[in-house]
Amino acid sequence: GRPKMEKNGQKHRRRLVLLPCPFQGHINPMLQLGSFLHSKGFSITVIHCNFNSPNPSNQPSFEFIPFQDGLSCNDVSSGDIVRIIQRANVGCKSHLHECLSQIITQRRGGQKDDVACIIHDELMYISQSVANSLKLPSIVFRTTCAATSLARTAIPILKAEGYIPFQDSESQDPVPGLHLLRFKDLPIPRSKTLGGFEQLVVDAYNIGTSSAIVWNTMESLELSLLEQIQQQCQVPVLPVGPVHKFAPASYCSSLLEEDRSCMSWLGKQTKNSVIYVSMGSLAFMDEKELTEMAWGLANSQQPFLWVIRPGSNSDGSDQRIEELPKVLRETFGERGCIVKWAPQKEVLAHSSVGGFLSHCGWNSTLESICEGVPMICRPSFGDQKVNARYLSHVWRVGFELEELERAQIEKAVRKLMVDKEGEAVRENANNLKGKAELCIREGGSSDNSLNRLVDMIMSF
Ligand code: UDX
Repeated sequence: GRPKMEKNGQKHRRRLVLLPCPFQGHINPMLQLGSFLHSKGFSITVIHCNFNSPNPSNQPSFEFIPFQDGLSCNDVSSGDIVRIIQRANVGCKSHLHECLSQIITQRRGGQKDDVACIIHDELMYISQSVANSLKLPSIVFRTTCAATSLARTAIPILKAEGYIPFQDSESQDPVPGLHLLRFKDLPIPRSKTLGGFEQLVVDAYNIGTSSAIVWNTMESLELSLLEQIQQQCQVPVLPVGPVHKFAPASYCSSLLEEDRSCMSWLGKQTKNSVIYVSMGSLAFMDEKELTEMAWGLANSQQPFLWVIRPGSNSDGSDQRIEELPKVLRETFGERGCIVKWAPQKEVLAHSSVGGFLSHCGWNSTLESICEGVPMICRPSFGDQKVNARYLSHVWRVGFELEELERAQIEKAVRKLMVDKEGEAVRENANNLKGKAELCIREGGSSDNSLNRLVDMIMSF
């Protein structure tokens, strides 16, 4: 492949250092990107926080090096994502410097291979100054959509103009300058008090000396926003999404163990009949919402595959499905399959699955779009709200569920899966899948961007 270089007459691979942000929704796309770059001939070293560390045995061809992230038990148990990210950036700086310089000198000294650059998650912004001090080129990887980044960067401005703090965080009024979004769709953290969020936005969107922005989105979804961002930006903006489509199929980067038993259950269901329900790796439900969901799914009469992640119960009770009322379990019987964690990409690609009730994390959104699966959107916080708004009002491949209440869930599932009312959304999902395929195929926009990325790295 192209990246093999002759140096002193020796065949010589170039090495890339990847630094993900320590959450499932960020680790997945980073390792998928790494897996693509590995297939192009690069060697991959993943340096990662101790917190949420990826399992090295999932990618035997990568090298994994943990560094001290400086996170305390209190930081981790706070569940406060903004705090964890900020503390990790502050706390890891010197260890990161040490870790990176060791990798560089070790390689150069040993003549094994040299390090071309570091690719870091936008939220691990500290990497940029560390790379700079070591004269290593750096590339930013963004794992949420372009619409989210525009909305996030608007937040400090909205604050300066007096719109924030909100009078009413559920306001349906359009946000000035972001016409498609209502105030309730702004990508703010779960806590609602902005706290350190504003500073995080400033730090993460300062691209400083980065050489490029690599983005897990597609032109078919966000061409005009990407063009707008490119106009304001000195370095190439490269939409390479969805990266999972460029990684080998066997590839897995799950932090939790996948329960594959649901695949044989799916095999027994009829085409497009199953509603898949998952709220990703971070969203919570309380016990009442869990019960409403169970009744709503049961009453919809559609078969369902439901992921109830351990610890996802917000009251800490970790309610299990065996504890739901017996009458309810009898109502759905064999029609429901419940697992703790699913092989989601495979599930969405399965012909039995006809709909996805989702929290609309960006990875789930891309995975669903690529398989043409229409969605019921139930965003919880942050970028999920922007994604839900775009899914329902721009791409029109889903609609929002206002309330986690049994009658509404039943109605939404029937609309999405069977009723005439949902026909347009089902058709749009199918069409959007076709447009996504055009981006991914050889010569498509994402494929071209990936080639540009490879060329750029080779030029370092
Ligand atoms: C987080 C944020 O919440 C999200 O909004 C942001 O866009 C990325 O970071 P998360 O909530 O975990 O991510 O959602 P999502 O982005 O959808 O990522 C979840 C990943 O876990 C997906 O790649 C999905 O395929 C995988 N998954 C989920 C499984 O493999 N099995 C499951 O049962 C559920």
